[in-house]
Amino acid sequence: MSKLDDIVSLCKRRGFIFPGSDIYGGMAGTWDFGPLGVSLKKKIMQTWWNYWVENRDDMFGVDAAIIMNPRTWIASGHAATFSDPLVECKECHNRFRADKIADVSEKVTPDEFRATHTKCPNCGKENWDDVKPFNMMFSTHVGSVVDDASVAYLRPETAQGIFTNYKNVVDSIYPDLPFGLCQQGKAFRNEISPRDFVFRSREFEQMEIEYFVNPASWEENFEKLLKSCHDFLENIIGLPAEMIHDFEVAPEDRAHYSKRTVDVEFDYPIGREELMGIAYRTDFDLQNIARESGKNMEYRDKMTGEAFVPHVIEPSFGVERLIMAVLTSAYTEDEVNGEKRVVLKLPENLAPYRFCVSPLLKNKPELVEKAKTVYDALRAKYNNVTWDDSGNIGKRYRKQDEIGTPKCVVIDFDTLEDDTVTVRDRDTTNQTRVKISEL
Ligand code: GAP
Repeated sequence: MSKLDDIVSLCKRRGFIFPGSDIYGGMAGTWDFGPLGVSLKKKIMQTWWNYWVENRDDMFGVDAAIIMNPRTWIASGHAATFSDPLVECKECHNRFRADKIADVSEKVTPDEFRATHTKCPNCGKENWDDVKPFNMMFSTHVGSVVDDASVAYLRPETAQGIFTNYKNVVDSIYPDLPFGLCQQGKAFRNEISPRDFVFRSREFEQMEIEYFVNPASWEENFEKLLKSCHDFLENIIGLPAEMIHDFEVAPEDRAHYSKRTVDVEFDYPIGREELMGIAYRTDFDLQNIARESGKNMEYRDKMTGEAFVPHVIEPSFGVERLIMAVLTSAYTEDEVNGEKRVVLKLPENLAPYRFCVSPLLKNKPELVEKAKTVYDALRAKYNNVTWDDSGNIGKRYRKQDEIGTPKCVVIDFDTLEDDTVTVRDRDTTNQTRVKISEL
């Protein structure tokens, strides 16, 4: 089994992440979060929100509707260009993303693809239809009439819900420039080949910042934001710096709106792949919205009175890719007393539970009663505390190791005498005796 298989199996076994619609045989490209997974996910999202919004004076939150006026996607360019290169095998009629089965770029032409002489990964033949662009937006109909006029799309990025509210924010709270607008929420993409667990899904969560700047200062702001992205990933989320890499995207490979993009990549079990991106989007979006809506998108500088359309730097995070990075760096196997142990070395601020409290024996009422008082006290202080009195103590430790609980607190007969408990550390397995009042 690969490390990714181990992580997928642990996630299902311990209630972190399940295949979407599992009971009906699944729904390709979708995943459901169980009790432990949703706890981890919400902690990551709240940590992000605290770092970027709550702890800064220059960032503000928005929460826009997922279904937006279809003109949004005309102005943004998604209707015309948000596509991947699709190629169909004429023998077995399986469809693939051309740039994932051959060494070509996302903008490959039919002739370039043919020249690679790629064989069909399904049937092994080399008989391809022309590569064609496949638009990845999911469409739906809004209202009771199903016709061309009622077509709308599920948003493929949260960014446009920010851009379309830029004017509302400036008109209502008029923040000093530079300022950022942040949004978290679902995004939907009809990926041709969803793959690698939650890495490439059809429904996923994004956390995006559109940082509005004076065009003269875009480079300086780009560098500052990139530095903050690393600070967040390494010091707040706890990802090892040596597993994170900046990749300067070449002009021909950048998205249609970008004049500079750095992909921040991570060493996943599937190889080095994009974790998040930071892009200089110029005034592309605000100018297009001005054209499409007929509204003025200029910002009037509070000091100089100068009016101009701000430029935008966009740090864009994917929640599932962050979760996969956290799980990758946390998943560890070692040996304790000659037995293999699986341990999730999650940082304390992300672990679903900070403490597990248990009575040494569950059939001794005096131990259970004492353990309950410790549990209640820790819960009142830390919230994230779990109770476990199943199986023997060794089994409880193994389970808490697998779900990443940093400390297990055990109440035994000595506790009844001297009010001390055993605190067992997840990473070292060391046990220390601590007074309840000092926990
Ligand atoms: N607003 C810019 C934008 O959406 P992107 O590079 O297409 O840029 C940003 O996506 C981030 O969203 C990626 O770096 C990744 O973390 C996440 N992401 C994109 N597609 C994804 C997918 N199919 N499944 C999971 N995460 C995805």
